[in-house]
Amino acid sequence: MTNSIYIDKIQGEENLSTNLTQTFHISTYGCQMNEEDSEKISGMLKRIGYSNTEIKEDADIIIFNTCCVRENAENKVFGNLGQLKKLKEERPNLIIAICGCMMQQKGMADKVLKTFPFVDIIFGTHNSYKFPEYLDRVQKDGVQVKEIVNKEDGIVEGLPIDRKSDVKAFVTIMYGCNNFCTYCVVPYVRGRERSRKPEDIVKEVEELISQGYKEITVLGQNVNSYGKDLNDGMSFAKLLRTLNEVKGLERIRFMSSHPKDLTDDVILAIKECDKVCEQVHLPVQSGSSAILKSMNRHYTREQYIELAKKIKAEIPEVSITTDIIVGFPGETDEDFEYTLELVKEVEYDSAFTFIYSRRNHTPADRMENQIPEEIKHERFNRLVKTLNEIVERKNKAYENKTVEVFVEGTSKNQESRLTGRTRNGRLVNFEGSKDSIGKLINVNITKAGSFSLTGEECK
Ligand code: 5AD
Ligand code: SF4
Repeated sequence: MTNSIYIDKIQGEENLSTNLTQTFHISTYGCQMNEEDSEKISGMLKRIGYSNTEIKEDADIIIFNTCCVRENAENKVFGNLGQLKKLKEERPNLIIAICGCMMQQKGMADKVLKTFPFVDIIFGTHNSYKFPEYLDRVQKDGVQVKEIVNKEDGIVEGLPIDRKSDVKAFVTIMYGCNNFCTYCVVPYVRGRERSRKPEDIVKEVEELISQGYKEITVLGQNVNSYGKDLNDGMSFAKLLRTLNEVKGLERIRFMSSHPKDLTDDVILAIKECDKVCEQVHLPVQSGSSAILKSMNRHYTREQYIELAKKIKAEIPEVSITTDIIVGFPGETDEDFEYTLELVKEVEYDSAFTFIYSRRNHTPADRMENQIPEEIKHERFNRLVKTLNEIVERKNKAYENKTVEVFVEGTSKNQESRLTGRTRNGRLVNFEGSKDSIGKLINVNITKAGSFSLTGEECK
């Protein structure tokens, strides 16, 4: 079990002046975990008197929270960092900080410093709670700070979180991953699995409810192994049942679920807990048992299909969504056909599709039979086409039906247009009043596309 560190004061909080005008801007790359980390960095900065600006060029502190799961995420960071050189020359007092998964990779922090010597602060995923301390050092001593640690001191509790939404929130229940899929860098940059104590999670959720939040998404690389390291019989199914009892909470979502660990007690908990939404994100990665073996996924194509069938049989109206990688080393035409067949058999409600990206220091990077780029792209396009047809067909079945929507906010470009989701995760757009934000309302679906549904509020 990992110890917990309870933070009750942020460095700099005690010297707050009343007339602070300094601003910050955070660019976040990658997954919801990174989004949540950025919300904590933003929370700490606001606590010590900074305010957020949407315009990067105006900010006094610019932070890049990076991702290294695929090469294109890294390239974006390099490109955007390069553009800051001129800004830093014009405004030498500007502070530039880089953090997140990419910095946690061997040699990367030094590479960044060498290429972009104007960067002021570099830190990793395990010590982001110390950012205010690093900032203080740069401001007081005018030094450059680079601090990457390979293991966190403990699970950090009590950081202020500046959430993007006022009605729905991410709640991380565990950090790290023990699975070592052969293509993936996450276990190297996020460390081993560490579960938060259930009482700390419940406390956070109760605080969210008191602030008006109604929906939570609990996050972990593999939520199904939640609690294993607590050694007290705690499990993900038990956590779902505990959270289901929190008064005032309307909906609970969760992601991601490794298929090898999705047990019957979790399926039963989803079925029996009224607040747990009928959506299971179940990354398959490939439909070929040979490729799955080479990916170190610990299930076969048949076992996965069996599991998906069981989930559908047990939980009416369930959505099954997934992640799929094409072009993994050694993937033959036949392996790829297996993936297409599996996609048709499972009939996914939505999917994230990825072209395999070689990652340094991972076993798959050292495998022979890397697939040429043009074949990867051709397979990717075929996969996306197959998926879109399925998703669109499944969405069409919602036309002229009434669904319960949790209203999340207004559409980016149109104030009178509201957006929300069905219990099983479908995005719904409709005309309505802002008063509905944060409420559950019934919407009649008039039109379905492959990404979203359009409807009218039932009066
Ligand atoms: N190349 C392509 N996709 C990857 N993913 C993880 N590592 C890689 C990689 N090297 C995908 C997996 C995972 C999702 C978050 O990112 O599908 O589930
Ligand atoms: Fe990466 Fe596999 Fe862990 Fe997911 S389960 S984070 S794909 S190693």
